[in-house]
Amino acid sequence: MEVIILQEPSDVTLAAALRIRRVMMAKADAVLGLATGSSPVGIYRELIRLHREEALDFSKVTTFNLDEYIGLTPQHPASYRHFMQEMLFDHVNIDPKRTFVPSGLVPGAEMDAYCLRYEEEIANAGGIDLQILGIGSDGHIGFNEPGSSLASRTRIKTLTQRTRNDNARYFSAPEDVPHHVVTMGIGTIMDAREIILIALGESKASAVASAVEGPVTATCPASILQMHPRTKIIVDEAAAIHLQRRDYYRWVFEQKPAWQKDDCGFAATGGDAP
Ligand code: PGA
Repeated sequence: MEVIILQEPSDVTLAAALRIRRVMMAKADAVLGLATGSSPVGIYRELIRLHREEALDFSKVTTFNLDEYIGLTPQHPASYRHFMQEMLFDHVNIDPKRTFVPSGLVPGAEMDAYCLRYEEEIANAGGIDLQILGIGSDGHIGFNEPGSSLASRTRIKTLTQRTRNDNARYFSAPEDVPHHVVTMGIGTIMDAREIILIALGESKASAVASAVEGPVTATCPASILQMHPRTKIIVDEAAAIHLQRRDYYRWVFEQKPAWQKDDCGFAATGGDAP
């Protein structure tokens, strides 16, 4: 697990976007795992800019989103399908058939089979090359709330009241926030070949500290990332304030050879990569 602390939120989202570009340039048909919420907005803005100004090509890319609210239509302004269309898909040359967002409209009796199919679609696409994650103030990833099985697969979950409160800003009234969601499981997320979790702002500082420096526990689902072989945690200064070893993470990053920093676009030249 690599912890990278950057000054500003825009530095964090730029670093994540440049890593996505790197993956897409290495593999034109890359499979990306995408997240919604306020954290990744800057990532998508930068990807759109890279598409428009530097011809970043999405034509062969496949995307899988983490989650969706149960009961919201794709047109609902707070649905994650709507979010993805507005924030990214409508602005780049991605094939709509290759953009997968779980449906929140599947009848209850068919949900188990639907979730299994979502997992199969990920496998059929070749698995996720790079998964982008935010983190909930309660340590959730996707909508895997505290207590979720660390081996869970795509399924229905019930949101905590804290998450419903955190997300109420997207709805006209707090009681409109659905109680249920469909989300990739923690096991599904852990299957990704590479993961970048980003966190912005002080409201995420406790969750980030538990995820990075606490025990691996279902009480903080993001802590499972300590077991993932290729994960970067990229945070701004405010989200890093409760990290005990933050000076060490900064020092490690400063010592990196240019080619390693370039992995996230931090260095202008590739240097002597192996
Ligand atoms: P946020 O949500 O980016 O809107 O803070 C993150 C999350 O809940 O995973």
